[in-house]
Amino acid sequence: MEQKVFVFDHPLIQHKLTFIRDKNTGAKEFRELVEEVSMLMAYEVTRNLPMEEVEIETPISKAKAHVITGKKLGIVPILRAGLGMVNGMLKLIPTAKVGHIGLYRDPETLQPVEYYCKLPSDVHERELIILDPMLATGGSAKAAITFLKERGANNIKLMCLIAAPEGIETVYKAHPDVEIYTAAVDEKLNSHAYIVPGLGDAGDRLFGTR
Ligand code: PRP
Ligand code: URA
Repeated sequence: MEQKVFVFDHPLIQHKLTFIRDKNTGAKEFRELVEEVSMLMAYEVTRNLPMEEVEIETPISKAKAHVITGKKLGIVPILRAGLGMVNGMLKLIPTAKVGHIGLYRDPETLQPVEYYCKLPSDVHERELIILDPMLATGGSAKAAITFLKERGANNIKLMCLIAAPEGIETVYKAHPDVEIYTAAVDEKLNSHAYIVPGLGDAGDRLFGTR
């Protein structure tokens, strides 16, 4: 099975991503842009949701129309930085349930460390979209996907802003069934496993920490 990676080349997404990357963009604008790009990406990620025909009445006549059907949606941000993508998603999918997985990357070992998890109880029945702006080594995403699968989830997508080739490879080797949606695939990782050129530390830029 070949990993499916969808790169969003829409001009609005690319334009906003440029300002997200720019080191001169402050936390307020950074947060707003991440939310806006997430909303635009939500539009694309949900493109293939199944629909069913329903009958309604407009003020003029009866009409056959369409509504989304099938599996219920769940979005799962990886804390902290994934939180920045939640509101954008919820603006378009307000009925989605939100689960949270807390992981941080140990700066020495670069391995993900889990510190929090709260998921909808029917996670196994939902189509899940994991949110994390950065796919670097892929360790965090791989761990989050494993975590969800251990709880019965079998329909998982990963949505990020910037992916490194190394991260895509890691997710592919562990979870070839998971589609990756990203606004960019960057060049490489540096010696601290930061994405080059990337956008720096997503959590710090969102929340003003260092
Ligand atoms: C960042 C980012 C991802 C992870 C990606 O989180 O939000 O979760 O790094 O790196 P990886 O692909 O090499 O695992 P970080 O660990 O900095 O935690 P934070 O969001 O709490 O700042
Ligand atoms: N985490 C980040 O926030 N940025 C990177 O470039 C890599 C991991």
